[in-house]
Amino acid sequence: GRSVVSLDDLTVTEIRELLDKAAYIATHQRQVAHTCDGRVLAALFYEPSTRTRLSFETAMLRLGGKTIGFAGAQLASVSKGESIADTIKTTANYADIIALRHPKEGAALIAKEAAASYGVPVINAGDGGHMHPTQTLADLATIQSRFGRLDQLTIGLCGDLTFGRTVHSLIETLCRFGNVHFVLISPEELVTPRYVLDRIEATPSCSYVEVRDLTQVIGDLDVLYMTRVQKERFFNEDDYLRLRDTYILDEQKLAQAKTSMAVLHPLPRVNEIAVEVDDDPRAAYFEQVRNGMLMRMALESSVLGDELPGYVPANKEYK
Ligand code: CP
Repeated sequence: GRSVVSLDDLTVTEIRELLDKAAYIATHQRQVAHTCDGRVLAALFYEPSTRTRLSFETAMLRLGGKTIGFAGAQLASVSKGESIADTIKTTANYADIIALRHPKEGAALIAKEAAASYGVPVINAGDGGHMHPTQTLADLATIQSRFGRLDQLTIGLCGDLTFGRTVHSLIETLCRFGNVHFVLISPEELVTPRYVLDRIEATPSCSYVEVRDLTQVIGDLDVLYMTRVQKERFFNEDDYLRLRDTYILDEQKLAQAKTSMAVLHPLPRVNEIAVEVDDDPRAAYFEQVRNGMLMRMALESSVLGDELPGYVPANKEYK
């Protein structure tokens, strides 16, 4: 099986097929319930997680497989000084597929290399402030289901664009689908990293603007992707406290937005989306959660080479 450190490890055609498979799985859960019988997923989570860990595990359980792993490095032998590579070379003996979340950028790449000789794929479940490819799969599925397409859209990304790994993965992937205008809304201290801007600049059909004020641009957006200010990546508590409340989406701001706009957020939120917004039809973040599970089911079965019973590639009936 193939590892997924970033979505660049999959072709655009493969990503489209995962979207198609997730749509099939959504309506054929009983048929796919034994797809991964006998398989074992190792979920190795060195950082807190609710959605990613539980959805990776649920995905494998709903496909008929089993799961092992740890949530919180304090209970694993890393607390005794074990390296990522040794942990992976150990776990690769126990599991058929590994999902890894780690606070350090590049950890997933080290894990992929450590697991390679075992033929066990590693899926990056978030590496520091770098990438979060399976969150992007959830994001793409949500945009696709709301708009029926992934291009010809104006997509605003708002908040912590420096440390928000989900933002980096999403921008890089949307550039591959093309024809997206990005509106990058952040304080000056939390702007989008250069390597991500380079990716947009290298894509002739895509463009971006960087702005500070959400209210000024909200009316132009098809998608508003809100993010949490990533407290755990700040060196300085004062900077975090100063920046965390820069953008709060509430009904008053939403009143300026298109009625068709979709509000996405990878979650968890702190206070950047007021709870009152949850009841607005534009709120798509709990749909995103469900899509995350369905896309991880599609990804796990695909990476393992386990075919979904009854699935016919790109069968438009399932859309
Ligand atoms: N979106 C996301 O990665 O959430 P968790 O940190 O809860 O896994």
